[in-house]
This record gives sequence, structure tokens and C-alpha cells, in this order.
Amino acid sequence: MITSRDDVWQKADVIAVDEVADRIRRIVLRPELPRPALPGEHIDVLATVNGEPQVRSYSVVEAPDNGGQLVITVFRTPESRGGSEFMHSLEQGQVLRITKPLQNFPLRVGAPSYVLLAGGIGITAIAGMAALLRRLGADYRLVYVARSRAAMAYLDDLAAVHGDRFEAHIDDEGGSLDVQALVAGVPVHTELYMCGPIRLMDAVRRTWADRGLDRTNLRYETFGNSGWFDAEPFVVRIPRLGVEAAVGSGESMLEALEREGVDMMSDCRKGECGLCQVKVLGLAGRIDHRDVFYSDRQKASDSSMCCCVSRAVTAAPPTTSGDRPAVLTIEVP
Ligand code: FES
Repeated sequence: MITSRDDVWQKADVIAVDEVADRIRRIVLRPELPRPALPGEHIDVLATVNGEPQVRSYSVVEAPDNGGQLVITVFRTPESRGGSEFMHSLEQGQVLRITKPLQNFPLRVGAPSYVLLAGGIGITAIAGMAALLRRLGADYRLVYVARSRAAMAYLDDLAAVHGDRFEAHIDDEGGSLDVQALVAGVPVHTELYMCGPIRLMDAVRRTWADRGLDRTNLRYETFGNSGWFDAEPFVVRIPRLGVEAAVGSGESMLEALEREGVDMMSDCRKGECGLCQVKVLGLAGRIDHRDVFYSDRQKASDSSMCCCVSRAVTAAPPTTSGDRPAVLTIEVP
């Protein structure tokens, strides 16, 4: 389903594609209606998944030529729902449908100091903020974490540009980020912007709250496909509509319900806006809440969930093909 942005789709030429890290491609687009992009902005792209158009969002990493070009960077995830595979199939000369740059993650200029925290491909949302803060002469620190050096796009460039304001934490080199130490060292009125996997962001949110820092100074964006458990197939039922859908491990519950013809509401499709929330009536298994919309208390109650990202899983990892999938019974608005 294409959401309410139908009116803002435009064509964009793919003018270059480069591999910039392991399974990460930098894609340069030339939009039909160019305009500069601000730090934190993203574009929605119409990807073709299983022959159907589906919306995927990608941060604008750079907008060289004053917006005449837009650069996005796409990680081909092992749990891809098809979008990143499609994006990795693009070649120079192809034409895409995209939106203009859209803002859900604005950088507030004027804070006394900043920490910018990127986990893995989350650097795509953060790099532009760092570039702007550097140009403004702001007091900032750019922290980039990942499992391995090979998986870090733009690592050398960022290190060269940001010098001693930049630090990399690489798990397989023994340099994992100490979240407690990071938050403990943040001056009180600092604003922290982060984008990364849900576990990293959750650890920072909890530590931030434990330290009693101002919640409004903690801002984040998620990329919506990381969870506490591996994605596995499950079954979702809506008794009132007589619907039962099998949700594959490579698709979201929202997509599966749309495929079954259920009229669903959605906007961000990244677990941020809450528009896709559904009420949970019954559950055989547990819910892997992958959104940043609900509070910890709301998540613990398992009474509702954001179906664009959150999933049902069996209580333990499935071990044999005979294991039964989790079954979720819901009501939709
Ligand atoms: S569509 Fe925004 S949280 Fe699901």
C-alpha cells in the first residue's frame, strides 16, 4: 500500500552506485525536482518487492550540488524484507520513484554541546548532522559503533574530517562502546542524537533515564528492522474480519495484512509514529517490540503493538521444522 504521500512522488535517475563497505552501497540519485536536504532528512523510495511497489525510507547522507543530487546508503540486511535487495539491484541509468526529502529527525541548532551516536548503518542519519555541526563550529562528539571495521561505511572519511571529535568503537577489535561511561560523561545540557539498532538505543535510553537527564535532550531515529529476537514466521488472526495471515520472516505483519486486503493505517513504517498500532487480543508466544513509540511499561503489558516493525516469536528459538509458529490474535482500528 502506498500511503498519503502519493502526491509527492517524483522520478529520480540513478547516476552512480558504489560498494562502500560490506553489503553497503552508496547510491547517488538525481531527482526530477531537486531541493537541498537538511541533516536528519530522509527520502521515501518505491521499491519493487515480490512484484509489488513498497515504500522504504533512507536517510539522505549528502545533498551535493545544492540538492541537485541526493546520496543515500543502503545496507543489504540478512533479514531483508526485500527492499534492501531491490536497492542493491539498482544500476546506473535506472529510474526510481522517490519523495522529496522529509524530516522526522531534526537537529536543533544552538545546544551548548552535542553527542552524535551512530550504530552501524545508523551513520547515514547522523553523518549529515556531524558535517553541519562542524561547519557551525559547534561543540560535538561523533561516536560510531559497529561489529566490525568492514561493516562501517565512511569510517576513514569521518575520521579524517572530524579528527579528535570522532571515535569509533568496534566490537571485534575489543573496543565495544561502554554505554554507561558514555552517558555518565555527558554534560547536563548536552543533546544526544542517535540512530542504530534497538538494543543500543534501548541501553542509552535506560541509562539516560537512570541518570535523570532531560528526556527532551535525547533524540533518536530507528531503522526499524532490528529486534531482540531473530525474525521468524508467525501467524496473525483478526477474528472480527475472519482473516488469518502467515507472516514470513522476510516481511512485516503490516505487509502481510495488507496483502490479505486488510485496510491498515501507516505512515513512518519504522516504529516511530504509532499509526499502525493494533490491539493484542491473544498470544501464543511472545512479542518482540521493535518500535520506539511505546514506553517500556506499555511494551511490558503486551496489550498493543506497532505492526510495521514488531513481531511475534516463539518463546524459545525454533529448533526443528516441526516447531509451531507463534500465533497472534489482534483487533485493528
Ligand atoms: S507506521 Fe509508524 S509506527 Fe508503524
